[in-house]
Amino acid sequence: MADPHPKSNGIPLAGVIGWPVAHSRSPALHAHWLARYGIRGYYVPMAVQPEHLANVLHTLPQAGFVGANVTIPHKEAVLSLADVVSDRAALIGAANTLTFRPDGRMYADNTDGYGFIANLRQGVPGWRPDAGPAAVIGAGGAARAVVCALLESGAPEIRIANRTRLRAERIRSDFGPRVIVCDWVQAGNMLDGAATVVNATSMGMDGRPDLRVPMDILSAQAVVTDLVYTPLETAFLVKARDRGCEVVDGLGMLLHQAAPGFERWFGQTPEVDNDLRRAVLA
Ligand code: ATR
Repeated sequence: MADPHPKSNGIPLAGVIGWPVAHSRSPALHAHWLARYGIRGYYVPMAVQPEHLANVLHTLPQAGFVGANVTIPHKEAVLSLADVVSDRAALIGAANTLTFRPDGRMYADNTDGYGFIANLRQGVPGWRPDAGPAAVIGAGGAARAVVCALLESGAPEIRIANRTRLRAERIRSDFGPRVIVCDWVQAGNMLDGAATVVNATSMGMDGRPDLRVPMDILSAQAVVTDLVYTPLETAFLVKARDRGCEVVDGLGMLLHQAAPGFERWFGQTPEVDNDLRRAVLA
């Protein structure tokens, strides 16, 4: 069989590019999969300042890199540096997964929405994105990926509330009339009849105030998730569970969003399971 990675002596290299990058859990995640599947490859953290990003990206393939994840603050900038951008990444306005193709072209994709859906499907196997309206709190980059994925998966309506209303309105104008913008101060009202509820803000993260949205009208049938995963159990999820809802923590989204990259670079579909969770939490 021909070596799929001739430039790297058959040892594919990948990594995560951020500034800073020390906090990233991606190296531990990919190292776990590489070891589990016995793949001779490496995944490394790369701290790259914004002014060096273009240079680094153009050089990596020459050093044997087959792809990379990008994280803050580079997720938007890579769109204008890539040769091919997936429709999804273009619509979201950010990419997290780059593939350096054998023909020399750089492909940018966004797998956050895939990770979001895969996490909910794994956490609540009976969850149906098309079962009813979704309520999304927040309108940043992560929220845009969530909205994109929910729409692709058939959610009939997506209600969004954000502190800065303009960002929510931008999502509506980018994603169309299935998106409905709700008032931030009345975010509790949009939970009425919602089948899926998502905290896509950074509220509730360790060191930040909790998200305080009244949950009195939340139905026990709703599936509730939080993109925050430090802590794993946010006050928002605790409140939802107390109302009888099934809840899914945000760590799984991080794990699942990594799978398409691993598969493209290393040629193996990886499994997201409790061993991986433990490895990433360690
Ligand atoms: P990400 O890429 O993780 O989505 P982001 O684009 O900075 O990060 O978005 C952060 C989200 O958390 C936004 O919805 C933000 O609201 P604004 O658009 O009004 O900034 C929300 N957020 C952060 N701090 C908040 C706070 N103290 N109160 C309410 N919302 C907050």
